Amino acid sequence: MSLFLKDTLLYLAQNQQIRDFVIQNRLTRNVSRRFVAGEVLTDALQVTRILNKRGIQVALDLLGENVASENEAHAATHDYIAAIDLIKDTGIDANVSVKLTALGLDISRELCEQNLIQILQEAQKQQIFVCIDMEGSAYTERTVQIALKMHAQFPLVGTVIQSYLYRSKDDITELIEQGVRVRLVKGAYKEPASLAYQHKLDVDRAYIELMHMLLARGNFPAIATHDEPILTDARTFVRNYGIAPSKFEFQMLYGIRRDLQEQFVQQKYSIRVYVPYGSQWYPYLMRRMAERPANLVFVVSNSLR
Ligand code: FDA
Repeated sequence: MSLFLKDTLLYLAQNQQIRDFVIQNRLTRNVSRRFVAGEVLTDALQVTRILNKRGIQVALDLLGENVASENEAHAATHDYIAAIDLIKDTGIDANVSVKLTALGLDISRELCEQNLIQILQEAQKQQIFVCIDMEGSAYTERTVQIALKMHAQFPLVGTVIQSYLYRSKDDITELIEQGVRVRLVKGAYKEPASLAYQHKLDVDRAYIELMHMLLARGNFPAIATHDEPILTDARTFVRNYGIAPSKFEFQMLYGIRRDLQEQFVQQKYSIRVYVPYGSQWYPYLMRRMAERPANLVFVVSNSLR
């Protein structure tokens, strides 16, 4: 895809007016269901049950980011605790993913940490793993630091590392040393050349190097990608080094490469699908568009029907 289209979509992901238009439009709302479970927790529960029946585990993600008020941050915290309790009560096979800016990181780090602690206390009580998603580079340092700090108290917390950032090898080294679980992704935000690789080849090369580090020495890493050559490399690597499938998992996004998800189940690998839900689905959907032009065609053609 042209870099221009990708950049434009990532720019539009931040645009308030377009967001309001798209969110209120019934057709785009329906189309978003291809990538988003629905607007409420029970939608996510329904999707999780279907995936679990197919042998796929789930990471539940309550959509929302960059909240600007304490009330919104508290509401998100409350909703996450409700999700954790629902996982426990229903016995579904799921854990959760949180974004620090949904918990108030833009307002203050203290507020964000207080909210995160509430979520982690509940998660610890229910023995459910919590992954802290990685957002744009303005948040990387704080996210890594918060993950390390929380992990000292709550072992069931991990975070995400993006292979497009130059700093990621150092971050992974430290997270491995501390035994923090890492989900490895390529990275979904627009980053400058001063901080991140700009070309797929470089991002992929970095991904493979970091993936090998994690598979060899990480604590139950998650290899989160739909990239077939990389997935083949991962399977060859674990076979060559005798790494058991119980030592790591593959992760993919809801609605993307369902054929590959099935294939991994058949091959007896652990596969977890990231299932987003909630009313704030616009930036998430735009990032999925930016990754693949065919998705844009799908959304536009369905919206015009
Ligand atoms: P790449 O973009 O090179 O795509 C490889 C192939 O995958 C494509 O050729 C296509 O077949 C398929 N594909 C990829 N994206 C698609 C799409 N949108 N629609 C249809 N097909 C697609 N990022 C981040 O910055 N912070 C985070 O916390 C997370 N969390 C996260 C969790 C999980 C479970 C996953 C799988 C991904 C993330 N990401 C993320 C997103 C990640 O950074 C990345 O943008 C996407 O996974 C797409 O990159 P791929 O690794 O799939 O490779």
